[in-house]
Amino acid sequence: MFDRSIKIAPSILAADFANFGAECRAIEAQGADWVHVDVMDGHFVPNLTFGPAMCAAIRKHIKGIMDVHLMISPVDSVIDSYAEAGADVITAHLEAGPHIHRTLQAIRASGAKAGLALNPGTGLDAMPNLLDMVDMVCVMTVNPGFGGQKFIASQVAKVRQLREMIGDRPIHIEIDGGVTVETAPLVAAAGADVLVAGSAVFKGGSVDNPAPYGQNIKLIRGAAEAALA
Ligand code: DX5
Ligand code: ZN
Repeated sequence: MFDRSIKIAPSILAADFANFGAECRAIEAQGADWVHVDVMDGHFVPNLTFGPAMCAAIRKHIKGIMDVHLMISPVDSVIDSYAEAGADVITAHLEAGPHIHRTLQAIRASGAKAGLALNPGTGLDAMPNLLDMVDMVCVMTVNPGFGGQKFIASQVAKVRQLREMIGDRPIHIEIDGGVTVETAPLVAAAGADVLVAGSAVFKGGSVDNPAPYGQNIKLIRGAAEAALA
């Protein structure tokens, strides 16, 4: 069911790549709401991660929502393979091709929820034409490609404006990049409900010592929720 409560979505980009199954189980046991999966193609972004076979493999280790962020161009032809891999949400970039409306149609046709990601340099001009096509808008608060980058504060105003445009529609606002205890309250107050966090969740922990994951998730959630109180 749709709700606007704060959801923490750890990005496994910051996990141990040799231990994805155990890492997914650990973050869920430690309180993660969604699992954020960053797929990078070495072309749309200057980094390469993994593809649909890896997503299918980790799906078995995730009980909740598998949130797949496709940093891929062109993207349309691969959407079905991520849906078949078990993605609940598939997010594509507005900047990834000339036919974003068709891309969003293809995501919904695949059976997944449709997410639309906007790079920091992209405005909201296209949104009135796309709002009825999306279940989530992902506002990138770093330039996509790498974890551990600094939060781009200019995006907070964009989140606020987007929240106004969304009104009562059941559309999540996800924030991706540089989310920490310090920045989470800013985006929560502006209207975001899904907070992706890679380095800020995984720091200090490991599959053998997962308690810091739980502590980090609790602190980020607490800071975000306090901004709404
Ligand atoms: C960036 C990815 C993010 C990234 C977030 O291209 O989409 O999901 O992993 O990592 P942190 O939280 O470390 O900025
Ligand atoms: Zn991401």
